[in-house]
Amino acid sequence: MTVSIVTGAAGFIGSHLVEVLLSQGDHVIGIDEFNDYYSIDLKYQNLLASQKHPRFKLITGEIQTLNWQELLEGVDFIYHQAAQAGVRSSWGVGFRNYTEKNINATQILLEATKNAKSLKRLIFASTSSIYGNAETLPTQESICPQPISPYGITKLAAERLCWLYHQNFQVPITVLRYFTVYGPRQRPDMAFHKFFKASLYDEVVPIYGDGKQTRDFTFISDAVVANLAAATVPEAVGETFNIGGGRSSCLVGCVASHGRNYMVSHPL
Ligand SMILES: NC(=O)c1ccc[n+]([C@@H]2O[C@H](COP(=O)([O-])OP(=O)(O)OC[C@H]3O[C@@H](n4cnc5c(N)ncnc54)[C@H](O)[C@@H]3O)[C@@H](O)[C@H]2O)c1
Repeated sequence: MTVSIVTGAAGFIGSHLVEVLLSQGDHVIGIDEFNDYYSIDLKYQNLLASQKHPRFKLITGEIQTLNWQELLEGVDFIYHQAAQAGVRSSWGVGFRNYTEKNINATQILLEATKNAKSLKRLIFASTSSIYGNAETLPTQESICPQPISPYGITKLAAERLCWLYHQNFQVPITVLRYFTVYGPRQRPDMAFHKFFKASLYDEVVPIYGDGKQTRDFTFISDAVVANLAAATVPEAVGETFNIGGGRSSCLVGCVASHGRNYMVSHPL
């Protein structure tokens, strides 16, 4: 019997991961505080199918307040997806929330895993935002991270914490740096969600900057498969991997090719 914990289980990526783990036979404990960064109803909908599954248990709560010693009993894998995501809201007063959810919560979890005898892997969901405006393309994992957002800073700090607990206490961590993930249930603050909504309601699509930025996008099922591989490949322990679609795309190109009007707004 394989027992997996998914933090951030009600979120975009976490909810897909829960479904796939259940389908492969795992017993899954989903943890989520259902915060109001976006619609709580959407988060409940994300878990609607999994909630009915006999091998799924939902724990509603904040990572920092849970009894981890008890929770980690017999757990094989932790997929740590919970975080305060989003680049733009990490500036200003919002920053405190990012340090709480991304750094402090991760530290609490890592501290508990020091004594988790059954734990085979802790997979940490990091981000391409730790690179900032990377000048080398394609971007190698080995380049020096230079985040250009407070969000990126907090995720990099959490990555480094994972590394520290691996070095000092042999916590079997693997870090995955996702490049913008898209697909069903994408967060409402993300581009594709906004584009599709604008398309459905015949609205103008807002674009930040000049819209000529390029990005590598990752389909949700690829992000999930990357997690499964990170959990099973022995050589992945202590390693960091970029997870992307492998092709750069331009946002204005995406919007214009679908016949939409777009509006260029000022950069941050
Ligand atoms: N979506 C992307 O394109 C993308 C890209 C790079 C990295 N990531 C990372 O992937 C992970 C998942 O992203 P997502 O898009 O699914 O985000 P999401 O906001 O949809 O899901 C995160 C979930 O975590 C929960 N949560 C946050 N802090 C918590 C805490 N301390 N305790 C309990 N629950 C908590 C939230 O309620 C939310 O449901 C995050 O770590 C994010 O930084 C996502």
